[in-house]
Amino acid sequence: MMRSEMEQDILKVLVTEEELRARVAELGAELYEKFQGKKPLFLGVLKGSFVFMTDLVRSCQLKSDVEFIAVSSYGNSTASSGRVKINHDLQQDITGRHLIIVEDILDSGNTLAFLKEYFLTKGAASITIVTLLDKPARREKAITADLSGFTVPDEFVVGYGLDYAQMYRNIPYIGVLKPEVYAGK
Ligand code: PRP
Repeated sequence: MMRSEMEQDILKVLVTEEELRARVAELGAELYEKFQGKKPLFLGVLKGSFVFMTDLVRSCQLKSDVEFIAVSSYGNSTASSGRVKINHDLQQDITGRHLIIVEDILDSGNTLAFLKEYFLTKGAASITIVTLLDKPARREKAITADLSGFTVPDEFVVGYGLDYAQMYRNIPYIGVLKPEVYAGK
């Protein structure tokens, strides 16, 4: 079969669609056990989490609601700048809520360190961090996920919501980008 124009930029598949499906089901089951009777708020961190979020909430049949916040590190660089900007803020009061923060990747930890502090100042009762991917090799902040789907090596990963320069989010698996795609950028 012809590879799509996006797939020609992929060096290798890191996590297949089947592996994603199976792991997301496990994460949903763990959250169900932990939050029964607590009506948690799933809080997706856009844009990267949008694919994971839709699969995770459907794999976890809890009484719950969903909310989003959009943040970005400045610029289109492959390395995080350390500065976090809120592009779209919460649209509801989270005072006293049990938050399940849903992230696509925990990398330097700058985004989640910032958000954790931000949500605590907004009055969250508890914060549980769920990340699909964890890249511990690049951590700068002392932050860990409560639940993580897969630990990944320090390679540039895209797909299943993760981008490079806003592209490749719609690839259905996690792949490693060919270095020549971002070389010199
Ligand atoms: C990515 C990802 C996380 C963050 C993780 O977001 O979605 O939010 O980086 O990196 P960190 O641990 O080094 O902070 P990005 O800023 O690329 O925006 P996006 O979600 O819109 O892709």
